[in-house]
Amino acid sequence: MGKGAPWWEGAVIYQLIPRSFSDGNGDGIGDLQGLTSRLGYLRWLGVEAIWLTPIYPSPLQDGGYDITDFQNIHPELGDLSAFHRLLTTAHGYGIKVIVDLVLNHTSDLHPWFQRARWSKRGSLERDVYVWSDDSSRYSQAPVLFRKFETSNWEWDEVAGQYYFHRFLRHQPDLNYENPWVQEQMLEVVQFWLERGVDGFRLDAVPFLYEEENSRCEGLPQTHAFLRRIRQKVEAFGRDILLMGEAIQPVEEAAPYLADDELHGAFNFVLTANLFAAVASGSSKNLMVCLRESQEVVSGCRWALPLRNHDELWLGDGHLIPPEVIQTIRAGLHQGHGHWLNWGINRRLAPLLNGDPRANKLLHGLLYSLPGMPCLYYGDELGMGDWPGLRDRDPNRTPMAWTPERNGGFSTAPEPLLVLPAVTAPGYDYRVVNVEVQKLLPGSLLNWHRRILTSRRLLPALRNGDFELIESSHPSVISYVRSISDMTVLVAANVAGAGASFYLDLTPWKGQRTREVLWGCDYPIASENWFVYLPAYGFSWWLLGEVDQTPLNHELVDT
Ligand code: NOJ
Ligand code: CA
Repeated sequence: MGKGAPWWEGAVIYQLIPRSFSDGNGDGIGDLQGLTSRLGYLRWLGVEAIWLTPIYPSPLQDGGYDITDFQNIHPELGDLSAFHRLLTTAHGYGIKVIVDLVLNHTSDLHPWFQRARWSKRGSLERDVYVWSDDSSRYSQAPVLFRKFETSNWEWDEVAGQYYFHRFLRHQPDLNYENPWVQEQMLEVVQFWLERGVDGFRLDAVPFLYEEENSRCEGLPQTHAFLRRIRQKVEAFGRDILLMGEAIQPVEEAAPYLADDELHGAFNFVLTANLFAAVASGSSKNLMVCLRESQEVVSGCRWALPLRNHDELWLGDGHLIPPEVIQTIRAGLHQGHGHWLNWGINRRLAPLLNGDPRANKLLHGLLYSLPGMPCLYYGDELGMGDWPGLRDRDPNRTPMAWTPERNGGFSTAPEPLLVLPAVTAPGYDYRVVNVEVQKLLPGSLLNWHRRILTSRRLLPALRNGDFELIESSHPSVISYVRSISDMTVLVAANVAGAGASFYLDLTPWKGQRTREVLWGCDYPIASENWFVYLPAYGFSWWLLGEVDQTPLNHELVDT
């Protein structure tokens, strides 16, 4: 890491759902105690931070993104002492902890909302949320959960008014015009800072403020409030990551990354282009997207997810160009009936038709592109999903630890599980689980561990400069990452057929080249440097006067 660089620069972030990760007390529901007991695994795997989806008290109408108390822990997950134990254990392992910060809305069962609906019109208490007598206000704001809602307004009998909600009707939007709301949410930030968290993943950041005749996204007032959050964390005096979820085209997401605002933001356009590349076998659009993303915000400030706990968000043509959406829908394995709201509701492995080569290719790209690679729990195993469960639950099933009952996730009787463990053909937890894959040297899990180890030895991949290189093959993407004393060349073949091609390495002409993942020498760099990559193959080469010691290490830890 460069001198003085914040901890998140190029850090590998592991996203997990605490309810689905590991059950410590045998009630069928994952919890903080269970998660704490699995931190050794995450350290072994080699991730540097964990991001927990919401852990707060909630009626769970929206996976915990509907909160009734911002300053507490959901009783099924544990309590604040369990959170303290999790945090100190994680820090002992050198793992940072990022929590979700849901600013835009609360649960309708939050005491603030109950008080609002019973309070007088125009009172400060009522004004904690966004009310109207008229459900046609803000009509240009798209309905986001369009599978479940037809309007952003819901009539409330008690209040005798409509309230505004960008997500489910159970999630009324807070009214940021009200200074009391602003102060409360800044206090929430302070509360978790004092509990010792290392960062926040800011949910749904574009939607804080509303304005007539706009999509109610990314308004100047919203940015101003995010800057206040930044000031708050700066004042705290530690490196605290602010990473925003703005499902927007890169030019529209970029303002959140202004120097005085958020440190990072997900690049969902890049995610879609990664899938489109595999779906079409062409790297062209991916390269265009990378060039644009780096032009808009250079360096490592984009967070790079493949899949997450939501659907693979493709949108209606505003986010991702229609031809890219078409490519993905036509080329990725998805089966029937997997479209939810704005995208495909499947996990990574089934989308890739269970092909581990494509899993490695896509993660190999994440681990070598500039940014913060985000690994979704279970994707290191090629874990499957459970189609047919409600909403986004197909992607949220229990982590598979062992071949034993419930995949070792819980000792509870199966019907008590938070969600069923996957037994779908090809993805059965008796086969696809941590314990079995640890024992198999060639498993996907051991591959992830190995490549993450190699990556740690290559600081150029972490926060080096980024430059795309022309290749002579339409399926190949190639780039160079470099810091002062290290240059790493990457080439990847996104197609399901082998590719032989030339790279123009004129700037490095005459230098030695060594493939680092396999530890073998290649010919001296030249303007017409020949490479062959198998289907979905990729390689990392060190350029220059390179050390002969292979970076590769023992396959399996004993
Ligand atoms: C984005 C989260 O990722 C999603 O799961 C949630 O439903 C919405 N924000 C609303 O909070
Ligand atoms: Ca439990």
